[in-house]
Formats: sequence, C-alpha cells, structure tokens
Amino acid sequence: MNVLITAGPTREPLDPVRYLTNRSSGKMGYALASAFAEAGHQVLLISGPTKLDIPDGVDLIPVESAAEMFSAVEHHIGRMDTAVFAAAVADYRPASISEQKIKKHGDTLTLELVRNPDILGSARGKFSFTGVLVGFAAETENLETNAREKLHRKGCDLVIANDVSQPGIGFDSDRNQILLVYPAHSEPLLEDEKHHLAPRIVREIELLTAGA
Ligand code: CTP
Repeated sequence: MNVLITAGPTREPLDPVRYLTNRSSGKMGYALASAFAEAGHQVLLISGPTKLDIPDGVDLIPVESAAEMFSAVEHHIGRMDTAVFAAAVADYRPASISEQKIKKHGDTLTLELVRNPDILGSARGKFSFTGVLVGFAAETENLETNAREKLHRKGCDLVIANDVSQPGIGFDSDRNQILLVYPAHSEPLLEDEKHHLAPRIVREIELLTAGA
C-alpha cells in the first residue's frame, strides 16, 4: 500500500538567523517509515529537519515550517491508502518574519504568534482523505481520555498515545511506552525501543487497512 508519514519537528522562522521549534528527534516517525518499507509498502516521508539518515527504500520530502509540511501533505495525501502523522508540528508561528536580523534593544522582547494549520485535523475535511488515518498524542496527564478525544476530533482510526511526563521515554529518546487508542478499545504496549515498537505498529495498521 501507499503510506504517507509526517515526522520530526517543524521550524518556524523569526528572522534570517532564528526560528522556533520543539524537541522532536523524528526517531518514531523514521522507525515507522523504515518498518513500513521493510514490510514491502511504498513510503513517502514528509519530514522536518532531523539528524537521522533516510531509511532505505523510502521517498523523502524535506520541509521546514508547518506551512510547508501542510502543502506537501495536501499535494500527496490523495493517492495514499494510509497516513500516519508522527510530526511534532509547532502549534504557533511568529506573526511576521523579519527580513533583517532582529537587534536587541530593551530588557524584554514580546513575540506575537499565530496559530498554524492543523495538518492531521485537515485530513478528513479539507483533504477529503478516506484511507486509514493514524495520529499521535503526546500527553502529560489523562493519557487515554485526551487521546480518545483527539481520535474523535480529528477523525482518526488509531491514535498512538504516549505520556511525555515520564523521564527517559518519548521525546528525543530511543525508547517509548505507548498506548494504542482505537474507537472502541485501547491496548497498552510494553516499553521498548522505538525500532522494536515500529514493526508492531505497522502490523496493527495493516490490520486496520484490511478491515477498511
Ligand atoms: N498535528 C498536525 N498539525 C498540527 C498539530 C498537530 O498534523 N498543526 C498532528 C501531530 O502530528 C499528531 C497530532 O496532530 O499526530 C497531535 O495532535 P495535537 O492536537 O497537536 O496534540 P497536542 O499538540 O498534544 O495538542 P494539545 O496539547 O493542544 O492537546
């Protein structure tokens, strides 16, 4: 099948030398891209900047900002059977990008930020995507309740939830502990390395596709 995966952080430019970003390493998204390719699927990885190597057999579209990621997804999602949104997209971007480097003046500096488009949240409506839709939820409290709310709000078939308040797993780590949240039930997976969890998640998504 054709699989689209978003991964990594986004960078939201402020001036020619600065940007806002977040702590995502891209490891979970890249591990999934690699596992889907190894299972014989066609993978298009749309990724923000990471230090990771492109997995074998995967097509990569590199992007920087949320707006660029949105455009790339909008352009390609129509021919996909499955779309997995593992990117940690910046929720806000600077309201304006200064053409020149911003010089320091006073003791404080106030930035105005505006909302970025919700790419996963646009899949069902704006992009009219009818394939299997998988989102991620990084939560610090009420993991299952918050993830299930996200699943319904964004029209997902599966939300992969993790508790980012636990040290040593999740963001920027090689390990993760995840809860698979489906419309009618949830299933916790044991804490493991991201590259061990990925083939397991691929099998779960293959089952969803078979039933779709
Ligand atoms: N996502 C996206 N585009 C955005 C924001 C998020 O595609 N602009 C996707 C992420 O890739 C992930 C899911 O949506 O699959 C996360 O949902 P989101 O509501 O952003 O989660 P949080 O940032 O945890 O939201 P909040 O803390 O506001 O509940």
